[in-house]
Amino acid sequence: MEIRYEKTLNPKQKPSWDDALGFGKYYTDHMFMMDWAQDKGWHDARIVPYGPITMDPAAMVLHYAQETFEGLKAYKTRDGKVLLFRPEMNARRLINSNKRLCMAEVPEEIFVEAVEKLVAFDEDWIPTAPGTSLYIRPFVFATEAAVGVHPSTSYRFMIVLSPVGAYYPEGVNPVKIYVEDEYVRATKGGTGFAKCGGNYAASIAAQVKAQKLGYTQVLWLDGVHRKYVEEVGTMNAMFYINGKVVTAPCDGTVLPGVTRDSVIQLLRSWNIPVEERYLSIDELMEAAQSNTLQEAFGTGTAAVISPIGELCYKGEVVTINDFKTGALTQRIYDTLTAIQCGEDEDPFNWTYEVAKAN
Ligand code: COI
Repeated sequence: MEIRYEKTLNPKQKPSWDDALGFGKYYTDHMFMMDWAQDKGWHDARIVPYGPITMDPAAMVLHYAQETFEGLKAYKTRDGKVLLFRPEMNARRLINSNKRLCMAEVPEEIFVEAVEKLVAFDEDWIPTAPGTSLYIRPFVFATEAAVGVHPSTSYRFMIVLSPVGAYYPEGVNPVKIYVEDEYVRATKGGTGFAKCGGNYAASIAAQVKAQKLGYTQVLWLDGVHRKYVEEVGTMNAMFYINGKVVTAPCDGTVLPGVTRDSVIQLLRSWNIPVEERYLSIDELMEAAQSNTLQEAFGTGTAAVISPIGELCYKGEVVTINDFKTGALTQRIYDTLTAIQCGEDEDPFNWTYEVAKAN
């Protein structure tokens, strides 16, 4: 792919790479853009100074939310290499999301190359303190100016980069989760498996409600029976019950997380059984009360591995593992982050080394 480069004349001051980094507060000096038109396909790939973009007020994304996105991270190793984690998985998931929303698909090799070239160009923005990384946000949106509901005839693919620390204010400490039984996130046949902005917009009311009650996030139940545990707003959820890890199957309503898939592979390589199955909230609450629920945690690119210390369902509150990070959760966190940062062997060939910018 041919990419046009325009280097910024006003490089920004970088924040300090410490706890104040937060999540998504700072953006790097450049961004990637590429357009799609029916007669030209994807064209005009460019890396330009980060800044506002102009759009027609009738751009369809602003009215009907034809928008999809991804999230992945870049890490700098001790010896100065830059690593991505399984970027082809994000590329494939974006294709599936775009198919569902009838949007132009970004081919896998274009996606990976665009991510790689932008990260290499802004390489000096990759933070190096423990627990930090460069969050990569690729996204696609409809640009046709039209007020009728139909697939847009033009799209833009963009990537922005943000140096980040922990996603949750709790850092890597356990979070409190509210089991949502009023609102629903997804039903079969809907967009639950797609990573589209609309799913997140629809989830905000539940998140606001949970936060008012003192909870960090919600755990969604299935949209039909309000009975089976699906996922947490920003991560997949896993429950370590009686020596087995149980997580919801990816059969249309759950986001197929890259971290989820990696954790399942890690657990199986350690001979810890993983069951991808329907888990009812009653079974989960009962396991918590009888202490057979040993640990619970969320998995996600932003959240990494986030221990769950408390669940609240219909006013009943259960504490998990004395609100402490469990040994298995810690082992998964340590192993995964060591592979991602190039500190440890990568037996699964998950990391992808970014070629340096010229
Ligand atoms: C991610 O984990 O990368 C996400 O996209 C979750 C969230 C920040 C929306």
